[in-house]
Amino acid sequence: MKVSIIGGAGLVGSCAAFALQMGRVVREIALLDVNAEAVAGQALDLLHGASVAADQTIVSGGYEHTATSDVICITAGLRRKPDESRLDLINRNVDLFVGILGEIAKAGYKKDAVVLVVSNPVDVLTYLAAQRLDLPVGQVIGLGTQLDTIRFRSLIAERLGAAATQVAALILGEHGDSMVPIWSSATAAGLPLEKYPGWNPNVANELFTRTKGSGAEVIKKKGGAGFAVGLAIQEVIESVALDRRRVLPVSSVQSGCYGIRDVALSVPTVVGRRGVHATHEIDLWPKEVQALRKSGQVLRQTVDTVLARLSEK
Ligand code: 2OP
Repeated sequence: MKVSIIGGAGLVGSCAAFALQMGRVVREIALLDVNAEAVAGQALDLLHGASVAADQTIVSGGYEHTATSDVICITAGLRRKPDESRLDLINRNVDLFVGILGEIAKAGYKKDAVVLVVSNPVDVLTYLAAQRLDLPVGQVIGLGTQLDTIRFRSLIAERLGAAATQVAALILGEHGDSMVPIWSSATAAGLPLEKYPGWNPNVANELFTRTKGSGAEVIKKKGGAGFAVGLAIQEVIESVALDRRRVLPVSSVQSGCYGIRDVALSVPTVVGRRGVHATHEIDLWPKEVQALRKSGQVLRQTVDTVLARLSEK
């Protein structure tokens, strides 16, 4: 399994590459970036650790690598400023992203390639990629609220003093301001959260607010996320690589799940070698479904704005 990471010189791309190296699942990691010297440095730094990590090929180069990749991961993009919402990023990143899609198309790609969009605003860019690449729509995935979900679980565990790997809680919808916490199925060590010692509604609100603000909090403290987003990417790519069929909250263009259509956002998604194998419309509280649909409306408005601007260019 070969993975190309476009934006591999950056914090997100290089952390994703390191997570994949330590995951020891994928066979080849190719890093691409406009900054050729920096991306060659990242690949060399990773290669130096190969003898204690895994028997993998780790290279840097151009779009000749995406042409032979099973997974094409796009992390390239300009970072959000701490006070800037992800959607504010849109115009700056859409032009960059459309250019990358053009390069991928020019180089050609495998008909069974899976594209993983990480660049923000990820849901809008996932929709654009699905629209512009000649791939089945299910083979275009956005990292979506997978990152928010792992942050949510980790922060809940820290607050409760629970084992982080035993917390199950989902964030669905937009990877952005309209993301939706799914309390109806949240558990810690198999116990419903509301029955867990120390849990109360104030703690719930505080933890969701902190999760939603995590991207901006990390940007303010260290300039941008790297480690957690790298691990979030690794889980998606390895579910593709091993055809694991894990149910992950990733973004893809919806065709009716929870009554949502023609917009990319995160719902419980079976992720395997073909990308999106299925989506699960799990039973949610009515207010959760309502918030999810609202998230879809917010994203649809933005997609319409983006498409209108692109059509004027
Ligand atoms: C974040 O939430 C990069 O959007 C990503 O940190």
